[in-house]
Amino acid sequence: MATVDEIARMPRGGPDASCLDRLLQTDRQEYLDRDDVDPRVKRSVVRALDWTGQVFGNHERFAAIALEEVADVADPAILELGAGHGGLSRTLLEWHPTATVTVTDVEPASVAAIAAGDLGTHPRATVREMDATAMDASDGQFDLAVFVLSFHHLAPAAAARVFTEGTRVATKLLIIDLPRPPAPLHLLRLATMLPLAPFAPFVHDGVISSLRAYSSSALRALARHADPAIDVQLRGGLLSPQVVVASRAP
Ligand SMILES: C[S@@+](CC[C@H](N)C(=O)[O-])C[C@H]1O[C@@H](n2cnc3c(N)ncnc32)[C@H](O)[C@@H]1O
Repeated sequence: MATVDEIARMPRGGPDASCLDRLLQTDRQEYLDRDDVDPRVKRSVVRALDWTGQVFGNHERFAAIALEEVADVADPAILELGAGHGGLSRTLLEWHPTATVTVTDVEPASVAAIAAGDLGTHPRATVREMDATAMDASDGQFDLAVFVLSFHHLAPAAAARVFTEGTRVATKLLIIDLPRPPAPLHLLRLATMLPLAPFAPFVHDGVISSLRAYSSSALRALARHADPAIDVQLRGGLLSPQVVVASRAP
């Protein structure tokens, strides 16, 4: 098993990443993660995420994946981490007549904006701040914890804590994130985005997200480091989002 130091230094492409893959990563932060950025820029990125989620069907696609994971639970208690705008939680509540959803994010401004909207008064929603790396929730409180398009924001040591915490507070932890394509394909993807990055905050964050996306071998290494008893099922991931379902044996 990797040591704490090895995990902290692990490339985003995983312990066995190629030389080219190791070059295609960055420690640079997205606007969303920075404190020195005009809040309006951050809000524009969050709004763009919600817009693309609606227009390209990601909210619905990810809600379907989440509900599949709790299909055998009558009245599932779902925790959304890193909700940003709440689009996924809204879809979950629309589609499931008895699910309760705790809608959370670490960013106070996003939580305030979600709470000020329809989710703030929804009878089956609770909106609150929560850090995915240190969840303020009791063991087994939720049937499902879901973390969408956010995992890559975290450096490896913090990312491993999401596995520990997510599988502590929920029966299943569902992570959906950007795929990390093979290096040549990744270069192509970056080349199409880079020209727009200086002008569009959403694309700027998209380029950094791409460089910070974890490969499937990195995801396995992080879960193993969190606890070798955590079972990890991975699917998708070449051009479609990566889907990770993690759980502990009962
Ligand atoms: C790219 S946005 C994704 C928003 C939304 N889930 C979506 O799919 O559009 C990443 C989100 O992760 C949140 N985030 C970053 N670090 C976090 C942490 N440690 N705990 C919880 N949320 C975090 C950010 O505040 C941001 O809202």
